[in-house]
Amino acid sequence: MPKIIPVAVFDCVVFGATGDLTLRKLLPALYYRFRDGQMPSQSRIIGAARSHLSDEAFRDTALKALEHHVSPGDLDSETVRRFLGQLHYVPIDATAEDADWDQFTAVLDPSRVRVFYLATSPDLYGPICRSLGKAGLVTEQSRVVLEKPIGHDLESAHAIIHQVGQVFSEQQTFRIDHYLGKETVQNLMALRFANTIFERVWDADMIDHVQITVAETVGLEGRAGYYDRSGALRDMVQNHMLQLLCLIAMESPVSLDADRVRDEKLKVLRALKPMDAHDVATHTVRGQYTHGAIAGKPVPGYLADLGSDEASSTETFVALKAEVRTWRWANVPFYLRTGKRLPQKVSEIVIQFRKLPFSLFPQDAAEWRPNSLIIRLQPEEGMRLEMMTKDPGPGGLRLSPTGLDIRFEKTFGMRFPDAYERLLMDTVRGNPTLFMRHDEVEAAWTWVEPIIEAWTSRPDQPRPYAAGSWGPTAAIALIERDGRTWHEEMTHAK
Ligand code: BG6
Repeated sequence: MPKIIPVAVFDCVVFGATGDLTLRKLLPALYYRFRDGQMPSQSRIIGAARSHLSDEAFRDTALKALEHHVSPGDLDSETVRRFLGQLHYVPIDATAEDADWDQFTAVLDPSRVRVFYLATSPDLYGPICRSLGKAGLVTEQSRVVLEKPIGHDLESAHAIIHQVGQVFSEQQTFRIDHYLGKETVQNLMALRFANTIFERVWDADMIDHVQITVAETVGLEGRAGYYDRSGALRDMVQNHMLQLLCLIAMESPVSLDADRVRDEKLKVLRALKPMDAHDVATHTVRGQYTHGAIAGKPVPGYLADLGSDEASSTETFVALKAEVRTWRWANVPFYLRTGKRLPQKVSEIVIQFRKLPFSLFPQDAAEWRPNSLIIRLQPEEGMRLEMMTKDPGPGGLRLSPTGLDIRFEKTFGMRFPDAYERLLMDTVRGNPTLFMRHDEVEAAWTWVEPIIEAWTSRPDQPRPYAAGSWGPTAAIALIERDGRTWHEEMTHAK
């Protein structure tokens, strides 16, 4: 069990305190950090939202959220009672001119680290920050945490970055991409830069292509309003998937300093080949789920989930082929795919090495599998290096693929903390390494925007795919046209 170092005593104000993110992710994450002794017991979590709730009512809501989102075995009634005691609630319409900010001055301790967590819609980020500034609530020890998406396109992202920047410095601004807080994602840095064996083969000489898949079984989960304005490209690719691509493709940073790591990720984003309308037509596929079945249960299609009779052109699935224009990655495609209502929840990265230049073994070439490294983000976090080995026993020298397998949870024998646990504690510590710098956000929008524009100007709609399938067949054609195939061995995932 690694040693847990408590963070400084803090006050955390969560705007959007009764929303889905707070109840599903933030409160459970804070509970775990409290239970494990990392969150000092004098710290306070102050929920803020428009509804008129008392502290008690907010604690009741929080308790229900914990019962729902924390494994029962991890809920100890005495620990829960003490944790709830640290929760407070302030009713406020944070964008109203006459909002009473003095309520916060009365509660917040000026000597403490102060975290303002904006679990709200991005168009409120600017106005809330302005109000916090005007109310004199932003101390030197304050930080603001912004959930993705930062904006809806480059222009709105730029505006938010500017508005927030008027009140909080870049060092005080923590733009969350929760994928960066996942253990296996952090492990990518260790894999590449703490081992001698990989970095020397991590380039176009040895790697044929890279695949990144983030598949989900869920549909809209009550977020129809947000999702229909967003779609999979904005919701998953612009942030999570491009961040994963950066960690795979970046050069070694000169140090682990937050800005040096982010400099290298930024270079990758800037090296992505921009897509014109023709590239968008040939290198991207967008889909939308129709009714189908997942794990044997029927599920409705996207429009039914939306509750709409009218067609929607929002994509719930994206597959695309990206290119990183550097020496290291020349002619090595990065295939990305993500979607809702796919057959399994699985996120993984496949590094597909090149074929053998020559084979000594008299075996049918169809049975050969070039080496691949499969990095599993979820579920069953781990890595597997696929290699050819000899079949045991007599019968000649026959080979078959076998995996060198590390399952992290089994190896380390401990629960893997949720990404939000790590990220919340990093904001208190003031460590921005796992957060997106403003120029990364802007560079990611710069690359994504022409895709959105080309899609918007085309007369065709996203291609339908049945819920429970792996997306439109065009997504399979996208990779098979290049003589490659999506990694399929996901079936051992639960
Ligand atoms: C969020 C998206 O950022 O990530 C959701 O807005 C998505 O649509 C979620 O479901 C996936 O996160 P995870 O950690 O479950 O893979």
